[in-house]
Amino acid sequence: MFNLSVTRRVTPTLAYELYHHPVATARALWGGFRLEASLAGFLGLPRAQLRSWWVELLERDRIYERIHEREREIQSSGQPVLNPGGRADASSEVLYLFVRALRPKVVVETGVALGYSSAFLLQGLHDNSEGHLHSIDLPTTDPQGHVTSEGVLDRTSVPVAQTGGVVPNDLRDRWSLTLAPSNPTLASLFEKVGPADIFFHDSEHTFENMIWEYRTSWPHLRSGGYLLSDDVSLNDAFPQFCREIKSPGFRWFGPHGRRGAVLRP
Ligand SMILES: C[S@@+](CC[C@H](N)C(=O)[O-])C[C@H]1O[C@@H](n2cnc3c(N)ncnc32)[C@H](O)[C@@H]1O
Repeated sequence: MFNLSVTRRVTPTLAYELYHHPVATARALWGGFRLEASLAGFLGLPRAQLRSWWVELLERDRIYERIHEREREIQSSGQPVLNPGGRADASSEVLYLFVRALRPKVVVETGVALGYSSAFLLQGLHDNSEGHLHSIDLPTTDPQGHVTSEGVLDRTSVPVAQTGGVVPNDLRDRWSLTLAPSNPTLASLFEKVGPADIFFHDSEHTFENMIWEYRTSWPHLRSGGYLLSDDVSLNDAFPQFCREIKSPGFRWFGPHGRRGAVLRP
């Protein structure tokens, strides 16, 4: 079986897709196959174990349907969903798999927006029946969304009322959300809730902020825990941090992939 996150979306129309878009479909299937293999290798788990958690997420938990229901609720209340579907994709399914594999008690993330990553992390905690997610976000105070100085709507920044809005209600009891800048809030949060099993960075992707969050979280991660990060290809922060701690790191979606992970020895 190939990566389910790919096949699930392709299956109902697989024959159609293969006939009309053979190269793109074959590439998607092959990409999913390689992701499953490399992630299983990185986590030191049998692929069959990974796959059974994947089935639970997609078929039993129906994560996408429940997230889309929340998006519709936000829309029906008259608010525009600025970034629908944002990170509801295989990159967030991998976050869920890290949670299932590690059975964390404490997870910390920066950067919530509508809450796609939060929803996948929380679904993992729910399915493990243990653990708590502590998230930090600095949302825009403009209800119409943040418009940059160039007059462009910044779709990654959502208003306060929508922050975490797509997280299904039944997953919220394991969640604490702090609305504040990650620097310095992250440091005091770790003092309060640490040591953490997983830290996930997805807030402001400047070099300074990314490396500050990596360096701040690292001493608060327990041995055997993971530092995870979005957008590791945007600048040199992730490679530089990996050099500092002398770890090769792991990237999904290829060696130049968007998301990265480092194991705390
Ligand atoms: C890329 S989005 C997060 C996407 C989210 N993880 C998901 O999967 O849907 C980045 C978020 O970081 C938040 N942010 C930007 N700068 C921040 C800062 N200095 N501290 C905390 N959050 C910040 C923004 O409000 C925005 O919600």
